[in-house]
Amino acid sequence: MVSIIAVFLVACLQTLSAQQAYAVDKNIPHLRQQGAATQLIVDGKPFLMLGGELGNSTASDMTYMKPVWPVLSAMNLNTLLAPVYWEFIEPEEGKYDFTLVDSLLSNALRHRMRLVLLWFGTWKNSMSCYVPLWIKKDYNRFPRARDNNNKSLEILTAFSEENLQADILAFSALMKHIREVDKAHTVIMVQVENEVGMIPVASDFCKSANEAFIQPVPQELIRYLQQKKDSLQPEIKDRWAQRGFQTSGSWEDVFGISLATDEIFMAWHYAVYVNRIAAAGKHEYPLPMFVNAALNRPGAKPGQYPSGGPLPHLMDIWKAGAPSIDFLAPDIYFGDVARWCNLYHRPGNLLFIPEIMRGTNNAAYVFYSIGRHNAIGFSPFSIESTECPEEDRLTAAYELLTQFSPLILEHQGRSTMAGILLNKTDPFQTLELDGYRFNFSFEPLDRYAFKGNLTDSAFATGGIIISVAPDEFIVAGSGIIVTFESALADNMNVGIGSIDEGRFEKGKWIPGSRLNGDQSHQGRHMRLPNNRFSIQRVKLYRYQ
Ligand code: DGJ
Repeated sequence: MVSIIAVFLVACLQTLSAQQAYAVDKNIPHLRQQGAATQLIVDGKPFLMLGGELGNSTASDMTYMKPVWPVLSAMNLNTLLAPVYWEFIEPEEGKYDFTLVDSLLSNALRHRMRLVLLWFGTWKNSMSCYVPLWIKKDYNRFPRARDNNNKSLEILTAFSEENLQADILAFSALMKHIREVDKAHTVIMVQVENEVGMIPVASDFCKSANEAFIQPVPQELIRYLQQKKDSLQPEIKDRWAQRGFQTSGSWEDVFGISLATDEIFMAWHYAVYVNRIAAAGKHEYPLPMFVNAALNRPGAKPGQYPSGGPLPHLMDIWKAGAPSIDFLAPDIYFGDVARWCNLYHRPGNLLFIPEIMRGTNNAAYVFYSIGRHNAIGFSPFSIESTECPEEDRLTAAYELLTQFSPLILEHQGRSTMAGILLNKTDPFQTLELDGYRFNFSFEPLDRYAFKGNLTDSAFATGGIIISVAPDEFIVAGSGIIVTFESALADNMNVGIGSIDEGRFEKGKWIPGSRLNGDQSHQGRHMRLPNNRFSIQRVKLYRYQ
């Protein structure tokens, strides 16, 4: 009898997928909800990624990488986003070589850095430049996307099971390898593909794509639209509404005849393809997985930008087609950063910025995105190219955020924290927290030379405010002046009890200078100077 039970138990264990088996291991990095925020949990604790992404080719040579690691450490990064190239890991079909991945892992461990791996698989910025040469050359077996003139492109089509299976095998091998070798959980997330999107046409016109286009809209998508009808993003809801919320028919029946419909069709097929890769990878090792988007310029039409990618106006299509993808993320190279943050931090989608153009403003954007949008991380692109890393404003911002992150993580999702972003076009911001109204204004670099011409001050400033106790707040950042009012209908004035500048050591507040007199404008305001980053704790009181 005992042996029958034993055989039964062994059989049960064998049928447990790797995903089920590993899902019970709480040490595997995963996402967890805290109030309104989704947090990334690493080693059992919430983690804030102070990151940077490598330039595309930097990780292709271990020798080239050698001087890069000290730069990353000098900039106070705790996470590196690094590509994994399909052409390198599978140079011959079915023969895997993880030398570069292993080198990334061991060096990251040595430099106490976590990794987010970027899977440069079927697509990298729309194109298929990272697929191995044995795939590129065998274009009959691995078919290409075509434009509307039937010209074949350097893009593998999403409408080929052969293409998909080849990527699934390689990505699964990668995830299995990470699971086997990365006992320290150095790899904390994986990006599946890179900036997926169709260009220079809004959708693929190869034979299989054309056949798929005249098929009915898949029932899974219709079901999703019906179930979420009240909470759909307006971009999709409005299109569907214009067609009377049709629940069957072709893509053009359900969404209308337009380029936008071509793009929706493409988004669905990209999402389904990427989802199957992510699901297969998670089956081997269930790390959080995401996709990144090349953003569309305002007014650009589908086909003029990488179309069908994980863009805000296609978020519902991606959510419906790719449930194994945990979130969609913006690569911000132009436009209003606050606007993009708003478009990605939506119900059902957390904010992570895997790429942003390097620049002085990033020291403000990192505070804002974390404080205002509970971002789980921030990562300028080509971080290793930073000139004078020690003097970069981001280095100082990351140092301060490193001290401060336990408090931030404690307050994420709890309505006790807010972000501040000021610049020459938006120099004032007001917000309310725990019964007080805070008026923030832009502190230009040289306040005495400043004559009201905000163009004098080149960069944005930002910070985070946290309510830490009744009448007590911590403000951290740079280039901010704060005044205080009552937000209650009590007709009271608000005065400054005290302001201390200090530090966090191992999560504990260590007060330093008491800032009064000139430093608080004789008790009129709180000031975080622009030429450095500081943390200040203010006690307020009310009087008549
Ligand atoms: C966005 C891509 O995701 C990156 O890999 C890189 O190509 C940058 N654009 C631009 O250099």
